[in-house]
Amino acid sequence: MRPVRKAVFPVAGLGTRFLPATKAMPKEMLPVVDKPLIQYAVEEAIAAGITDLIFVTGRHKRAIEDHFDSAPEMEAELARKGKNELLAIVQNILPPNVSCIYIRQSAPLGLGHAVLTAAPIVGDEPFAVLLADDLLDADRPVIGQLIDAALTHQGSILGVQEVPLTDTDRYGIVATDPVSASTERVLHI
Ligand code: UTP
Repeated sequence: MRPVRKAVFPVAGLGTRFLPATKAMPKEMLPVVDKPLIQYAVEEAIAAGITDLIFVTGRHKRAIEDHFDSAPEMEAELARKGKNELLAIVQNILPPNVSCIYIRQSAPLGLGHAVLTAAPIVGDEPFAVLLADDLLDADRPVIGQLIDAALTHQGSILGVQEVPLTDTDRYGIVATDPVSASTERVLHI
């Protein structure tokens, strides 16, 4: 398998579970401490060697594009006031070797459809998918662990978690067989 350099961020969902906070603001822009959720996901991907960030966006998602774009007025104002630390924060949201590509999902037809919308950009390369609304705290970036597992097993890898039986109607569910301490083979989805 070739190295994984592309990551798809489906960010076109309506985010109805977080209303009213997400009526006009994308849920991926909700702040956790001092950064929006999407920035944690992007930093995790970059730490795992991803250089092409592909955002599948929808209506009302311009804030995400603006967040990763330059902000000339703000930068000029911070430079004029000598606020260099803040200027560095604004200018270094993304490293220079990383590119952002945006594609619109025509209607919120679900996560699978959102990922398929990115197909013309991904082509036949291996790629990662990150859901920014799941914030994962780990010593090693989780997407890096999943990419390593994909290379080891030469196949598609899903990160999954256990949920209470009463919540199973809110998630995609897999049936698995153990392969090793941390890896299982998916039998049914
Ligand atoms: P969710 O299952 O959380 O869907 O999507 P949602 O529509 O955003 O949320 P609720 O249920 O209304 O609260 C998981 C991920 O898939 C994206 C979402 O933006 C989120 O990152 N998604 C979902 C899309 O990009 N397009 C869709 O049509 C649905």
